[in-house]
Amino acid sequence: IISLPAAQVSSHGFLNGASRASLKAFQPAFLTSANFRPSAATASSPTELVTEFSALANCFCVPQPIARSEALTRRRLRITASRGIEAMRRAYRDRAEYLGDPDFVKMPIKRLISSYYAAGLRSNILADRATPSSDLAPVTISKPESMHTTHISIMDKQGNEVSATFTVNFRFGSGFVPPGTGVVLNDEMDDFVSKPGVPNGYGLVGNDANAIAPHKRPLSSMTPTFLQTGNGQAVLGTPGGSRIISMVLLGTLDYFNGGDAGSIVSIPRYHMQYLPDVVFYEPGAFTADEIGGLKNMGYHLREIHPYGNMQAITWDYKTGKVTAASDPRDIGKAEVR
Ligand code: DON
Repeated sequence: IISLPAAQVSSHGFLNGASRASLKAFQPAFLTSANFRPSAATASSPTELVTEFSALANCFCVPQPIARSEALTRRRLRITASRGIEAMRRAYRDRAEYLGDPDFVKMPIKRLISSYYAAGLRSNILADRATPSSDLAPVTISKPESMHTTHISIMDKQGNEVSATFTVNFRFGSGFVPPGTGVVLNDEMDDFVSKPGVPNGYGLVGNDANAIAPHKRPLSSMTPTFLQTGNGQAVLGTPGGSRIISMVLLGTLDYFNGGDAGSIVSIPRYHMQYLPDVVFYEPGAFTADEIGGLKNMGYHLREIHPYGNMQAITWDYKTGKVTAASDPRDIGKAEVR
């Protein structure tokens, strides 16, 4: 089997730069049914799929010499229809899960075409019954990227830090792109108090101090943060509108209590912002006893979905240990190199 990758063609029908380069570098994969091993593991979907399918189907093959081209094909695939179907089902599921343009996506090709992996997939094929596709692990759907505020935390070897929270405020900001700029304008005016006592989009109230005026900047809840003690330093921050401040506060307290980055970003959160007179809390933020006790004291409690997307890094001067973590509630990635 010789298989070529699908070319990436722009909407005008031209190859883009990346595609041209990847086509140049492309090595065709030669698969023979004798050993089902590609001479070069490429990332094109058909090649991988056929190889994975072959590996899967391999156990069902009946050796059968073919006189015409014995050098190339010593055995022929002869499998029952249902086994072929089940092998295809599993290989196509993996296509959906893992494969994409190799210029953009890192694919576990070696694993997918290994005989061990194939043996694993084969193990749940039943000889007398179809496997519903819904019984296979569903394809991972990544969370959509944020359409509003985001945060990045960085620390280098010397301890230099970046803590940057970036916002267009609500989804897609004002939803307006001035022609020819490609820049989405924000709707940050909502961070001002439009009228004393009238809450903004996050329920925050205020007075003339934060009223709209020429050349004035609105209050912001964004809290990109550096922390430093005699023993170490940390950098953290998160999106989350008015709840940013309380999230960073809880993260900061956790750091001073010895928390590493993983702990800082994942501790359960609660929030109170004066008005509304409600304590919002994530599942697990309070024990049952605490909830009972707070209610008895007159607090109005409201459990809400997990929120925020904190990114944190810590560095312990004594042990030299660096920890980095991305909030498990949302998208993001943390890496220590
Ligand atoms: O500066 C502020 O306080 C707001 N513009 C932040 C908005 C925000 O975090 C939205 N994110 N989820």
